Amino acid sequence: MNVKVICPGSFDPVTLGHIDIITRASKMFDHVEVGVLRNFSKTPSFTAEERMEFLREAVADLPNVEVVCFDGLLAEYCRERGVTAIVKGLRAVTDFEYEFQQALINKKLNPELETVFLTCNAEFMYLSSSMVKQVAALGGDISSFVPECVHDKILSRLKKIK
Ligand code: PNS
Repeated sequence: MNVKVICPGSFDPVTLGHIDIITRASKMFDHVEVGVLRNFSKTPSFTAEERMEFLREAVADLPNVEVVCFDGLLAEYCRERGVTAIVKGLRAVTDFEYEFQQALINKKLNPELETVFLTCNAEFMYLSSSMVKQVAALGGDISSFVPECVHDKILSRLKKIK
C-alpha cells in the first residue's frame, strides 16, 4: 500500500522540531507532503513562498518529502490529494487539547482521514516558531533552533522585520 501523509503547519519559520517530525514521518510512510498553510489568522512574519523555500532547503536530503502549499480546509485538501493521514508532533500536555480538537474536527469533515501523533524529541520540547522569533528579536542566538542551511536567511529576514 502506498501511503501518503501530510505534515501541516504554518512553519513561520521552520524549526528543528518540525524537521525532526518530518524526518521521522519520512521513514514511516511512502510519501510525505509538508503542507504550508498560506493564510492563517495571525499575519505571518514570512510569506508563504519564503516559508516553502526554507522548508525545501531543509528537507532537500529527504527524497520522499515534497513541500506544498494549501489554503482552506486541510480535510478537504487531503480528500482531493488522496492523503491518508495527518502527522503532527506533540510537544507537551499543553499542545494536546488543541491538537485533539483539530483531529476530531478533521475526522468529522473527512471520516477517511486519520491523525497520527508523534511525540517530539525531548530536545525540542520547548521549541516553537514564535519562540524563535522572540529570541531573534531580542538579539539571542537561534542557531540551535533552526536548520543550519537556512539560519542566515531566517535571521536576516527577522532583523528586517525588527
Ligand atoms: O503550525 P500550526 O499553526 O500549529 O498549524 C496549524 C494547522 C495549519 C495545521 C491548522 O491551522 C490547519 O489545519 N488549518 C487549516 C484550516 C482547517 O482545516 N481548519 C479546521 C481544522 S482545525
